[in-house]
Amino acid sequence: MSVVALVPAAGRGERLGYGMPKALVPVNGVPLLTRAVRGLFESGQVQHVVIAAPPSDVDLVHTATASLAPAGGAVHVLSGGAERTDSVRLALEHALRVIPDTSIVLVHDAARAFTPPEVIADVVAAVRGGYEAVIPVLPVADTIKQVNEVGVVVSTPDRAGLRVVQTPQGFRAETLKAAYCSGIAATDDAGLVEKNGVAVHTVPGHAHAMKITTPFDLAVAEALFSGGQK
Ligand code: C5P
Repeated sequence: MSVVALVPAAGRGERLGYGMPKALVPVNGVPLLTRAVRGLFESGQVQHVVIAAPPSDVDLVHTATASLAPAGGAVHVLSGGAERTDSVRLALEHALRVIPDTSIVLVHDAARAFTPPEVIADVVAAVRGGYEAVIPVLPVADTIKQVNEVGVVVSTPDRAGLRVVQTPQGFRAETLKAAYCSGIAATDDAGLVEKNGVAVHTVPGHAHAMKITTPFDLAVAEALFSGGQK
């Protein structure tokens, strides 16, 4: 009964403008991907990590992450796909092929490198407790508007019912497999599962699970995690 984390890390990171794949960008000397994988293992709940790496950096990523696995676990590295969903699909297929006792699958963006291990453990616990799909979420601080194609506001959803979604997203292995086999398209894995008719449950996320996307995000992370923190 293994918990396997899939880490899509094959994005080019163009919005970050760092001239290298985002997952390899260092924050205070440690690459985002290394931090993300370390956090997964530090949760104490994850035995295997499958990384979808930038195609040109598979060997580099393998060298940088192999030693992070605990006894009895492993880091697997493969070449990612053109879109995030392709990277997740390839990692999922690999996990189901080579880790035969995979029972719970997490999908965790390398870009959410500072997710506290406690959040990861909470997601796993909720899936172990019986939910098919679990996502960490935060309340929405800003008012959100829906606009039409020319930017005119058409509605104002009640923000009390809105949540910002983070990762890792956790699933029973067969639930995620069924969603990926369905041919449905969605922008995140929980969206895919939801469209496939499965109830998606939530646990509290954390501000530190922010996605590093822009130079501003990187500067925030550098400031927050300086002085030897993580
Ligand atoms: O670009 P964005 O920040 O939305 O990407 C989210 C995550 O998906 C990142 O960790 C990125 O490396 C990964 N990704 C991937 N394969 C792609 C595109 C993005 O693994 N083709």
